[in-house]
Amino acid sequence: MFNFTFHNPTKVIFGKDAIGRIAGEIPRDAKVMITYGAMSARKYGVLDEVVSALAGFDITEFGGIEANPEYETLMQGIALARKKNINFLLAIGGGSVIDGTKFMAAAIPFNNEPFLLLENKGADICRALPVGAVVTLPASGSEMNNRAIISRKSVRLKRAIMNDCLFPRFAALDPTKTFTLPVRQIGNGVVDTFVHVLEQYLTYPVNGKVQDRLSEGLLLLLMEEGPKALVDPKNYDVRANLMWAATLGLNGLIGAGVPQDWAAHRAGYELTVLYGLDHAQTLAVIVPAMLKVRAGSKKQKLLQYGERIWGISSGTEATRIDTTIDRTRAFFESMGLPTRLRGYGIQAVDTDLVIKLLEAHGLSNMGENNDVMPDVMREILNLCH
Ligand code: NZQ
Ligand code: ZN
Repeated sequence: MFNFTFHNPTKVIFGKDAIGRIAGEIPRDAKVMITYGAMSARKYGVLDEVVSALAGFDITEFGGIEANPEYETLMQGIALARKKNINFLLAIGGGSVIDGTKFMAAAIPFNNEPFLLLENKGADICRALPVGAVVTLPASGSEMNNRAIISRKSVRLKRAIMNDCLFPRFAALDPTKTFTLPVRQIGNGVVDTFVHVLEQYLTYPVNGKVQDRLSEGLLLLLMEEGPKALVDPKNYDVRANLMWAATLGLNGLIGAGVPQDWAAHRAGYELTVLYGLDHAQTLAVIVPAMLKVRAGSKKQKLLQYGERIWGISSGTEATRIDTTIDRTRAFFESMGLPTRLRGYGIQAVDTDLVIKLLEAHGLSNMGENNDVMPDVMREILNLCH
């Protein structure tokens, strides 16, 4: 196991009454800006519930944060917050609203061009307003981590920043708030969480047995409960388990002390920018192709994953690995996500452009061994069609 420091300051408030418990987490004299997405928070009553829970607080609302939150939209929120002297941000939504709100939290007190905060992977962020999160879509894990992924389509950019100032103060997780998710977002959430675990688990062994067993537990849970959410969307226990799994999948716990990959995520950002695929859709396409191409360096963990998750223990190593990748692909498909680009109506990807963008974004040698070079990425992308 590698040396590590693990610190996660986010308080988790879980259960049917979670929103009713947030008022005590916000200073009584705070000027609060509630942020949300295009429509769902208002339509399904979560916004009203939050506003009622914060009766007596000084509240400003900022809605309209889109999926893959756009820099230009967030700039409007930053301007509004500055005008109203906001000093607490409360996000209602999935990864996009929470990430966008975290970025605003860092940008509001920043005295320079906010775009600069996206440089250097967010390392230059010195402070941020406090953020709370009310989760309506379990997937990103953003509610309990220090990351934000911000897009700026005009310059073909989707970039991850990480900084400990970005940990939310609290995350309110009420599984009933996920009952309204459309099938596509249920599938997206399960696949994104599954891949977060794979990015931290499916690398090379370092005897991180605690991390391996925690990861395997989450993967098995997602396989068991994910399909149930598709057919029984109002099953509280199913939703509760998926919600908690999504948060634990990317809150630093399973990744502490082990190598991490993230090449599928990074390449996926470019596919979202260029072709508009949902975040999880990019992963469903890239991961099976990536595992095929990188089976050599991931061999030991692939065999372990195949045996412990998919029960594949006989046959040659090569056939076991092939079957493991096939089963992974079939699971993504069973959650409603095509695993080939043509499944999304994309006949051909401009591989040169994807690689050019990755290089421009400083991502030409990715993965746990820094060996996912442009030629490897080209091979992976060619397998995605
Ligand atoms: O905008 P509204 O109307 O609210 O609709 C949203 C949105 O269209 C809808 N939705 C959310 N909750 C709902 C609901 N619809 C019905 N009922 C509900 N309860 O779902 C749509 C997608 O929402 P979004 O927030 O975009 O989804 P997700 O949570 O998958 O977030 C994706 C973003 O998170 C980033 C992704 O890159 C992407 O930008 N990620 C953030 C990470 C992090 N901060 O650690 C890690 C992840 O790997 C990921 O990259
Ligand atoms: Zn993800």
